[in-house]
Amino acid sequence: MDISIQGAAAPFSGEITIPGDKSISHRAIMLGALSEGTTRVTGFLNGADCLSTIRCFRDMGIAITLSDDETEVQIEGRGLHGLQKPEHILNCGNSGTTTRLISGILSAQNFDSCVTGDESIQKRPMNRIMKPLREMGASIRSQKDNGCAPLEIHGQSLHGIDYESPVASAQVKSAILFAGLYASQPVRIMEPYLSRDHSERMLRALGATVSTKTLADGRAEITLQPGAQLIAPAATLEIPGDISSAAYFISAALLVPGSDLLIRNVGINPTRAGILEVYRRMGANISLVNQRLAGAEEVADLHVCYTENLRAVDIGGALIPTLIDELPVIAAVAAAAEGDSRIYDAAELKVKESNRIQTMVAGLSSLGISAEETEDGMIIHGQGKKLRLCSASIDSFKDHRIAMTFAVLALRGTRDTTVTIHDAECIEISYPNFFKDMKKMIDKE
Ligand code: S3P
Repeated sequence: MDISIQGAAAPFSGEITIPGDKSISHRAIMLGALSEGTTRVTGFLNGADCLSTIRCFRDMGIAITLSDDETEVQIEGRGLHGLQKPEHILNCGNSGTTTRLISGILSAQNFDSCVTGDESIQKRPMNRIMKPLREMGASIRSQKDNGCAPLEIHGQSLHGIDYESPVASAQVKSAILFAGLYASQPVRIMEPYLSRDHSERMLRALGATVSTKTLADGRAEITLQPGAQLIAPAATLEIPGDISSAAYFISAALLVPGSDLLIRNVGINPTRAGILEVYRRMGANISLVNQRLAGAEEVADLHVCYTENLRAVDIGGALIPTLIDELPVIAAVAAAAEGDSRIYDAAELKVKESNRIQTMVAGLSSLGISAEETEDGMIIHGQGKKLRLCSASIDSFKDHRIAMTFAVLALRGTRDTTVTIHDAECIEISYPNFFKDMKKMIDKE
């Protein structure tokens, strides 16, 4: 499906509530399934990726009920040892989180299994989880011997591990932690910088002992003690709005003159909220109101106003894992900032749903914005408030975040610019109502 968007959008004003956090939704299903008792969830994200996680756990005998609008879920947990051997290959669709986290769990079951997904998943690197899982005693192999799914897993008993992860990846960390629930000794993971910590927070809330330290050199150390039994929470698990989805509306409000928008109920966990720090550094007018806790996660409403004079910014180091999925839309906003913005230490962008360094630079260039690929990031030559876009067709490469990024940037064009985005239906992955929500904003005036 192609979507065409005209420039000179009306200001984004009023309020919007963003759908639930994708990372937390996945974990709620997985850890709910492994808990004793019933887990009730609100704010679940009904994106295709999270529905893939539900499908996989149903295939392993877990009863999961969804409300009509698919935002409320009830999971009948069967405890750590209650999963049943699936009758067929588990299909993780487009979801890297499902594939990697479920592999950790499957490695420790008393049955064999196979996980795979769509064309894109079958190209994404899985050695990053196979290596540590094997060190824990897992038997897991890439069927085509190319380091990618399909993965064949022979369930084994696992032991502890002390693992120095070369990448700050919450998927790698969580695969190890979930396998570690079955290990006879502690598991300890060191990562170059702390990656999103939703797994640790949820595990703690369910009764596991997980500690986190920052080491003197800035690395993060996460330890899970053995012998946990997970108990379903008595209270309903409230999933906050996804800051990665809010990012498109924050950015739209910064790009479209006259905008003044309140975005309700957004998760602002510090391991996810790097975008707020970067936009503040760029001089953006964003304030946090009504800060509170939703279970184990921090939440706030975000008040964002159009900012005429945005400054260029350099983004690297420990900030990168806290905004990895927002870098495409941040790069788009950098086009409207005065000066050159540099993104570095972000080679992980190359192994997402598309190579996001390439796909961003290609898309920006088609719109007439000068940008360059670097080894581990990109440079965007911002045009400041004089930003002009050309009409163009943009290939989303079936990457939801690329499609949404260019949809937002297109709004900043003039009345006579039209940006057409190919394969725009990929937004289903993380934000099925994205275009509807955007249209509601645009049609308001
Ligand atoms: C995720 C972790 C990140 C992120 C992905 C979701 C998660 O990936 O990009 O969209 O839910 O754990 P990495 O762990 O590979 O950085």
